[in-house]
Amino acid sequence: MKLSLVIAESALELVPEEIKKHPSVVADSRRRGITPTSILLDRSIHHAAMSRLKDGLRRGRPDLVHITLLGVTSTPLYQDEVVKVYIHTCNDVILEVGDGTRPPKSYSRFRSLLEKLLLERPKDELISVYPSSLPELVKRLKRDWVVGLSVQGEYREFEKLASELVGKRSPAVLVGGFPHGHFAPSTLRVVDELVRVHERSLDAHVVVGRIIHSVETKMRETNQR
Ligand SMILES: C[S@@+](CC[C@H](N)C(=O)[O-])C[C@H]1O[C@@H](n2cnc3c(N)ncnc32)[C@H](O)[C@@H]1O
Repeated sequence: MKLSLVIAESALELVPEEIKKHPSVVADSRRRGITPTSILLDRSIHHAAMSRLKDGLRRGRPDLVHITLLGVTSTPLYQDEVVKVYIHTCNDVILEVGDGTRPPKSYSRFRSLLEKLLLERPKDELISVYPSSLPELVKRLKRDWVVGLSVQGEYREFEKLASELVGKRSPAVLVGGFPHGHFAPSTLRVVDELVRVHERSLDAHVVVGRIIHSVETKMRETNQR
C-alpha cells in the first residue's frame, strides 16, 4: 500500500498584489529586505492588510502546513516511503514532496524555503512545484480510493478507517490546510467518501498524526510491515 496524503486548499501563498502597499506588508518587506510579493502571506504579521482580501479568514496560515508537514515527515511510515505528500495551495499550486524529503524544523527556515519554491517553481527538485487544481491532481494520481477528511463527513473510527486504507493499493487522504470552513464543492466532487474521525473539529496535524499511527498499527497487525 502506498498512501498519498494531500494537504488541500492550503492557506499558503505569497503576498498578493492587492495588499502589497499596505503598511504592515511594506514594514515586513523592509525588515526582511525582500520585495512585498516575495513574502509568504502570514496572518500573524499581515492581519491588518488581510481584511481586504476575499476569503481572508481562510488564508495566510503557512504555519498550519509547516506543523502538519513536520508531523507526517517525522513518522516511520513516511521515512519508509509508504506515505507520499502533496501540498495543494488555495491558489492552485502543487508542491510535491519527494520521497524521504524532510522540511526544516525551524519556521523561519521553512518560510524562506517556501518563498523560494513559490517564486522559482522548480521541477525535479526534492520538492517540485507546478500549477494544478485539486481535481486535476486527484485525477492524475489515479488513486483507488479518495477519502476527504471533514467534520461534515460520516463518522468512522480511526482504526476502521486505517484498516480500509490498508486494504487498498493506492489510497489518497485529503486533509484541509486551512484554519476555518470546509472543502470547496470542486474538492467534494473528486472525493469518493467524506469521513469524520471525531465529534470535534481538530487541527489537521492531530488528525493526520492519528491516522498515520493507526495505519502503522494496522499494517503491523496484518504483517505488511
Ligand atoms: C482546522 S480543520 C478546518 C476547519 C473545519 N471547520 C473542519 O473542522 O473541517 C483542518 C482540517 O482538519 C481535518 N479535520 C479536523 N477535524 C476533523 C474531524 N473531526 N474529522 C475529520 N477531519 C477533521 C479536516 O480535513 C479539516 O479540513
